[in-house]
Amino acid sequence: MAEVRLEGLRKSFGTIEILRNIDLTIDHGEFVVFVGPSGSGKSTLLRMIGGLEPISGGRLLIDNELVNDIDTADRNLGMVFQSYALYPHMTVKENLAFPLRMARAPKAEIATKIAKTASLLQIDHLLDRKPRQLSGGQRQRVAIGRAIMREPKVFLFDEPLSNLDTELRVQMRVQIAKLHEQLGNTMIYVTHDQVEAMTMADKIVILKDGNIEQVGSPHDLYHYPASRFVAGFIGSPKMNFLAGKVEAAHQHGLDVRLEAGSTISVPVQPDQGLIGKPVTVGIRPDDFSSTPGLQGISIALDVDFVEHFGSVTYIYGLAGDETVVARAPKSGSRKDAGKLTLTAAPADCHVFMSNGKSVLRLQAPATWS
Ligand SMILES: Nc1ncnc2c1ncn2[C@@H]1O[C@H](COP(=O)(O)OP(=O)(O)O)[C@@H](O)[C@H]1O
Ligand SMILES: [Mg+2]
Repeated sequence: MAEVRLEGLRKSFGTIEILRNIDLTIDHGEFVVFVGPSGSGKSTLLRMIGGLEPISGGRLLIDNELVNDIDTADRNLGMVFQSYALYPHMTVKENLAFPLRMARAPKAEIATKIAKTASLLQIDHLLDRKPRQLSGGQRQRVAIGRAIMREPKVFLFDEPLSNLDTELRVQMRVQIAKLHEQLGNTMIYVTHDQVEAMTMADKIVILKDGNIEQVGSPHDLYHYPASRFVAGFIGSPKMNFLAGKVEAAHQHGLDVRLEAGSTISVPVQPDQGLIGKPVTVGIRPDDFSSTPGLQGISIALDVDFVEHFGSVTYIYGLAGDETVVARAPKSGSRKDAGKLTLTAAPADCHVFMSNGKSVLRLQAPATWS
């Protein structure tokens, strides 16, 4: 196990600053996911931790030891990337053994570790095959196995599941999460996929344009996004954003007049300075209900499209001239376009200022939707 600490970490390529002032502590045994859009700097940050990319500024500490200038090989890391990078001419067994053979480990020790690793990853039956005789998922398991063989302090994963088909991704997601439970190592995992981040992470770090946008548990990021960017990135389908203007601030929150029509009262920090200012109200598709008679914030929707997933159905439509998506009630297939009243609990609404930052929520999320 190991603690990894980033203090004011910076990276430039030539004159272009790619990462600015990254401060982050990754605790012993934590599963941390770096997530963000393509180009946000996730891989570069991971490669700096891995020693594959020089650090332009700041400090990188592993177990309180400054490692900025320590070689990759001496950082005691296990790395797994999107491309499996297995040696094609070696069998699975030889691939697994390779890092230990290079370190001149005794044969008996290597054999014991191969047996243990192969059984952990359920690749025992594949040991004599060459990589080309394996499926994508099997190859990725071997690559993970090779990282495990080194008994690293920290595992680094960069989009390890991107080359796999959907079903396999889900299986491997579960397997890596289980592996973390069994091994208890610190793991840092890079992905652009918010579902992987939400399902696997103890702690999510959201990157945007080389800055950390927010750090928190999946629950925190989902329910208390610090910005409109985070709110839109986490959750699928995306949160709905409705334009409005603050009419009043009172002890229970803000009254917002929506462009779509109604005025709603949202339990967020009643900042007087926001009166008269444009804001965006955010409501998740899953926080809408179309059950008649509910008290709450109502929005009239002109339904124009219905999407069936089997277990859940989403309805799309217009509220005023803004597109809104909402989860449909369980009963009744809503095939036809038509008018529908959606209701959301005020406590489930978010308010974002024009600079994109969230207004602090005063109530816990509602549970009735
Ligand atoms: N070797 C490099 N030289 C110049 N620019 C680079 C290099 N590697 C990455 N970048 C730039 O750094 C930014 C972050 O890249 P990267 O860390 O790969 O993002 P992500 O993994 O989040 O998609 C991108 O704008 C990318 O073009
Ligand atoms: Mg990347």
